[in-house]
Amino acid sequence: MPVAEALFERVKNVVTAPEWAIARPLIDEINALKKERNAVILAHNYQHPLVFHGIADLRGDSLGLARQAAQTKADTIVMCGVHFMAETAKLLNPSRRVLLPSFDAGCSLAEAIDAEDIRNLRREYPGAPVVSYVNTTAAVKAESDVCCTSSNALEIVEALDAERVIFVPDQHLSRYVARHTEVQIVHWPGGCVVHEEFRTADIDAVRADYPEIRVIAHPECREDVQKTADMVGSTSQLIDWVETHRPAQVAMITECTMSDNVAARFPEVEFIQPCSICPYMRRITLERVRDCLRDESGEIEIDSSIAPGARRAVEKMLELSS
Ligand code: 13P
Ligand code: SF4
Repeated sequence: MPVAEALFERVKNVVTAPEWAIARPLIDEINALKKERNAVILAHNYQHPLVFHGIADLRGDSLGLARQAAQTKADTIVMCGVHFMAETAKLLNPSRRVLLPSFDAGCSLAEAIDAEDIRNLRREYPGAPVVSYVNTTAAVKAESDVCCTSSNALEIVEALDAERVIFVPDQHLSRYVARHTEVQIVHWPGGCVVHEEFRTADIDAVRADYPEIRVIAHPECREDVQKTADMVGSTSQLIDWVETHRPAQVAMITECTMSDNVAARFPEVEFIQPCSICPYMRRITLERVRDCLRDESGEIEIDSSIAPGARRAVEKMLELSS
């Protein structure tokens, strides 16, 4: 079967025929530009199925994307994700060109804390190391001891061998870590606008309608929501769980575009859930990817006064994470 038809076959349950008719020439154009520029496209699990399945070379959660970015030999990296993910790729590839198709692709967590806040926390809790979630700006990373993602947060906190750790900025992830460790955690009141939308009532309603359903949730969800779930994990850990358990029905309590991407891989699993969409991730479209590759626009640059410190925090995470 020709490549384009095989691709439509994979996404046909989550992409309409008219959407595909518009997307097809753009996908061809992007694939040609990729070759011309010796570029690689990385896509986060929340990207639209046409981006995720249609044009991405490498896919994953924040940790997976950081690891893959660190290994690429391509001249240009296009990050189909949000700004902090593109910055992380650039920190790990200072000599390569990293392009972000839309600079509006931010993150409510990255906006929740700045470098001055970290300096104040250090004054308030002298000696306590700072673990910052990768969903932060490079300036915040530069003030931190180490970064973490939702898939290795507990491992990183425990690897520091400290009695007390400052964990910023997501309060739900930090409370998840605190529930699983003896280390004393200093929290920060940041939150993800997408995950904070979910309520236990949404989950109770789904369970009432589908008594056999399995419910799995991201640790950026509120604590009560996490506690009602059968499993809590990063986006890739949620996907791996579906792959291993193959439930007849599942509700993934996270950004809901991801379910479409996973449904395309596991057509025998029924995905049912309350929906919350990340407005920042939606800024990445096929048109914008085409434009940034064609015009070599949207290049990420990190101030030389903060890049070395931020790189050290990201590299330390990769070193400490199994
Ligand atoms: P993951 O690292 O689990 O992919 O999470 C990133 C994110 O932004 C979740 O909202
Ligand atoms: Fe940020 Fe939440 Fe969007 Fe993830 S889903 S990028 S944490 S706003």
